[in-house]
Amino acid sequence: MVKITFAPANRHIQVRVGETILRAASRARIAISQRCGGKGACTMCKVRVTPGSFVSPPQEKEKRMIGEEHLACGMRLACQARVQGEAQVELAESRLASVVRTQLEKQRQERGEW
Ligand code: FES
Repeated sequence: MVKITFAPANRHIQVRVGETILRAASRARIAISQRCGGKGACTMCKVRVTPGSFVSPPQEKEKRMIGEEHLACGMRLACQARVQGEAQVELAESRLASVVRTQLEKQRQERGEW
């Protein structure tokens, strides 16, 4: 068993080596959006793996789906990346949370709170 840390909640869980990030998150009831059932087809499960984390290298399917540019930034498909050692995974902000945060920031600026 190895430890994965999920940011921004800073939640630590123990996972089996070889388990996908998506499966590990699901067991720990950490929500990662997905639509294809973990088949690497929807790209909704994108997460950012922090440098120095031990996960499997991307296979051709993942490279094709996510693109070299995103891979270079540490983005991975949670359903394809397998844990090989300690890792830190940053979850993407949901679209709704992003819209709400942006609106709140805009309102604060308009009220002169910043
Ligand atoms: S769950 Fe669809 S690409 Fe990962």
